[in-house]
Amino acid sequence: MTVFVTGIAGFVGVNLTAALLARGERVAGFDNLCRGKAEYLARWHDHERFAFEQVDLADLAAYRDALNRVHTRSPITEVWHLAANSDIPAGIADPAVDHRDTFMTTFNTLVLMRELEIGSIAFASSSAVYGDLGVHRLTEDTGPLFPISNYGAMKLASEAMISAAVESYLERAWLFRFPNVIGVPATHGVIMDFVRKLKADPSVLDVLGDGTQQKGYLHVEELVDAMLHIRHHATDRLNCFNIGALDDGVTVRFIAETVRDRLSPGASIRYGTGNKGWVGDVPRFVYSVDRLLDSGWQPTLSSAEALRLAVNQVLEQESAG
Ligand SMILES: NC(=O)c1ccc[n+]([C@@H]2O[C@H](COP(=O)([O-])OP(=O)(O)OC[C@H]3O[C@@H](n4cnc5c(N)ncnc54)[C@H](O)[C@@H]3O)[C@@H](O)[C@H]2O)c1
Repeated sequence: MTVFVTGIAGFVGVNLTAALLARGERVAGFDNLCRGKAEYLARWHDHERFAFEQVDLADLAAYRDALNRVHTRSPITEVWHLAANSDIPAGIADPAVDHRDTFMTTFNTLVLMRELEIGSIAFASSSAVYGDLGVHRLTEDTGPLFPISNYGAMKLASEAMISAAVESYLERAWLFRFPNVIGVPATHGVIMDFVRKLKADPSVLDVLGDGTQQKGYLHVEELVDAMLHIRHHATDRLNCFNIGALDDGVTVRFIAETVRDRLSPGASIRYGTGNKGWVGDVPRFVYSVDRLLDSGWQPTLSSAEALRLAVNQVLEQESAG
């Protein structure tokens, strides 16, 4: 019995794999390495319960061949679909990016799950499906959903395809709406961005937007723990969960100052204008995590604590690499 993970060489994929292997599961995964790195998986190279292959999931024929091989070796019982484009501005500049990597990877995954009669899918969705609803507290029942980025639109379309597949052939789906997730190996995100900018020029840190953007942050290890908890406790056919911190988050100004103080205390911080970092950025969102709490799981770290921990981890990663 194998748990199959898409986007396995990415930030969340690597952490999920570690947790699944530690729980005694057999794990196989694909990634086209457009952002993830094979070296993140190298420690499991000789692990008897682990297999990785470089496959582009947008290429259905290649995906079908490779997945058939995995399934024949050891039947896949569950798919964790994490592969997606992580660069929201890139998807605004060229909508084909999110169509291919965020939506078609879902579409093709569902096609193959139907062919191979694999019943369960866990999907990495996002707060981006909600669009920009300001300080309205977002529950899983909030609607209508009008995303403001192609990334959010393709995540919402993916959720919709999964919902329809549950009606027709899937046994169970978990839609996990992530907040901003931080930790290592960082492949993208605000902390890595700030660390790299300050390393390139220790005298000044340029921030996209005016620094007032405020979001909840969750450490990746807590995210994985929450998902594996929900997988056992939420047994409806279609399960949708906001996953996030208990607080309303921290500002980009707080993150900029935390990174600056750790890396280059004398640096000045130069803010941009407007409350968005880029077109499609949701400047503020506030999650209700009542459903998550009702399931019996809660995070131990606040957004600020998760942030400080992740800053230290990303600094270590960036000095090692
Ligand atoms: N990290 C966050 O803050 C966050 C927030 C909300 C949602 N998510 C979602 O969680 C999932 C994992 O995110 P992450 O932070 O690990 O991102 P990531 O970029 O590190 O991981 C995604 C992986 O998918 C792979 N990939 C992309 N297109 C592919 C394709 N066509 N074929 C095969 N592999 C492909 C990339 O190479 C990468 O390794 C994504 O679906 C993302 O949208 C993440």
